[in-house]
Amino acid sequence: MPGPADTQSERLDLVDPCEEHLDAFLAYARACLPAETNPYMRQRFEEALADPAGHLRRERGFAAGRNLPPGYVPASTYWLVRDGRDVVARSSLRHRLTAHLLHEGGHIGYSVRPAERGKGYGTAVCRLTIERARALGLGRVLITCDADNPASARIIEKCGGVYENEVRSRATGKMKRRYWVDLTRPAPGHPGPRDSSSRRS
Ligand SMILES: CC(C)(COP(=O)(O)OP(=O)(O)OC[C@H]1O[C@@H](n2cnc3c(N)ncnc32)[C@H](O)[C@@H]1OP(=O)(O)O)[C@@H](O)C(=O)NCCC(=O)NCCS
Repeated sequence: MPGPADTQSERLDLVDPCEEHLDAFLAYARACLPAETNPYMRQRFEEALADPAGHLRRERGFAAGRNLPPGYVPASTYWLVRDGRDVVARSSLRHRLTAHLLHEGGHIGYSVRPAERGKGYGTAVCRLTIERARALGLGRVLITCDADNPASARIIEKCGGVYENEVRSRATGKMKRRYWVDLTRPAPGHPGPRDSSSRRS
């Protein structure tokens, strides 16, 4: 697996969906689509590629709680931008939990561009999204991963996740690991919230 590149000279920003980085996000969507197995994410990428401006409007609406699909709560999407140019990862932050999210979905989800995996971006996007949850005023966040996704489990643990239990997903039948991150404590290895970061800390 590739190791971290030059971590000192790289700038990472977690940004709200915006016109400035829309083309970079569309390139990200094109790169992710062939390997994307999550039907909801496939639909979001396809919708973005077909109607980029509409996608931005929908993302902003979801964050503000407008035009939510039935059963959905307000949720913010973020793009992880490297050196002001490339979108290398994305994340979602659900502002509160439903019964389904409490059981298995959690507050935060993330993914990394396939060609950029194994370089620390998954950890970075999770860590920065947790800081957004803190800024939103959440006291703790639930993050879950499939039991057969050790990279994601490692990310959650590095970001301060405390394992609670494993449950069977009602959606897929697979086992899911559930972790809580206490936001009343400082983040591990971080002095405090910030919007940009060097990759590793
Ligand atoms: C899971 C995913 C986000 C990981 O992203 P990434 O950028 O490769 O993650 P990182 O480079 O930050 O690595 C995370 C840690 O996992 C470890 N790791 C990677 N593969 C591993 C494996 N097979 N077994 C154990 N640990 C593994 C890495 O070594 C690293 O730990 P370290 O920093 O202590 O060395 C990425 O593979 C992805 O987008 N997958 C598809 C979507 C997904 O599964 N999202 C998570 C939903 S909960």
